Amino acid sequence: MIETIDKHRQDFDSRIHSISTPEPLKQLRIDFLGKKGCVQALMKELRQATPDEKRQLGKLINDFKQHVENLLGEREDDLGKSTNNQTSQRESFDTTLPGKKETPGTLHPITQVMEEIKTIFLGLGFQVEEGPEIETDYYNFEALNIPKDHPARDMQDTFYVDGDAVLRTHTSPVQIHVMENREPPLRIIAPGKVYRCDSDVSHTPMFHQIEGLMVDENVSFSHLKGIMSIFLQEVFGKETKVRFRPSFFPFTCPSAEVDIQCVICRGKGCRVCSQTGWVEILGAGMVDPAVFKCVDYDPEKWTGFAFGLGIERISMLKYGINDIRLFFENDLRFLKQF
Ligand code: DAH
Repeated sequence: MIETIDKHRQDFDSRIHSISTPEPLKQLRIDFLGKKGCVQALMKELRQATPDEKRQLGKLINDFKQHVENLLGEREDDLGKSTNNQTSQRESFDTTLPGKKETPGTLHPITQVMEEIKTIFLGLGFQVEEGPEIETDYYNFEALNIPKDHPARDMQDTFYVDGDAVLRTHTSPVQIHVMENREPPLRIIAPGKVYRCDSDVSHTPMFHQIEGLMVDENVSFSHLKGIMSIFLQEVFGKETKVRFRPSFFPFTCPSAEVDIQCVICRGKGCRVCSQTGWVEILGAGMVDPAVFKCVDYDPEKWTGFAFGLGIERISMLKYGINDIRLFFENDLRFLKQF
């Protein structure tokens, strides 16, 4: 048995020195110290020995077991450290490499144009007002002199919410809310989202408008012309020509459609302006006395003008964009250009 112990020891020593990774070390522990390992086998054999032999051989086996445990422990420690080193080397990073760049977001082009227009009107003494996007039939139509069954309702493809409620088709109802709550004189603009059941290269079901309203004593069409010209020349450049064409809106009288000289061809005629040299940019007019009556303003005392413009339309002309849907597809290649 003494020889067997010696053989096991030699075997163990040579194996442990050839090991350089944790896996075979585990196997070595199983082979020598496991339930079916050779130390246990020696113990089993010991049972058959005489008491004297037991004392002598038992000590040898214990020494051997101790030797195996010590060496295994040391080797396991060594290998553990070196694998830890390897992982920390793998996790370490090169501080001289350039950092990852986070590209900061930018304001959406519609928001940018909206802000630009607001700034211009703030400079002209207008205040910014807001109104609800879900309106009643009364505010969206009736109070703006568009009675039920009036053909003007067909001008706007309305989303009906339920019963009396609609998604506002324009920002004009904000005029009514403001006049119901305040007395003239007033100068306001009302930017916001509006909704129409319409979709093609120049229409989306949701788009943005800015409404304007000025009410005071002796406000005339000349004030409207002056303010619109200043505003449009601020947005499109000082040399931009502006013209007023007679038109019809139920809530203004007289009404006008305002055109600017085509910004693409500068009046020569191109596809954008259908060869006319002019593009339509907004609707405007003098507030109809019927609207003043709805909000209890005395039409004999007060006069005013109103206007409404589409932000997408202005942005498309300003930046030469030919499809309105680009604004809402959220393609970064498009949005990054602004
Ligand atoms: N609300 C009109 C529309 O969406 C635009 C408009 C035209 C507003 C003339 C006005 C105005 O205030 O006077 O088509």
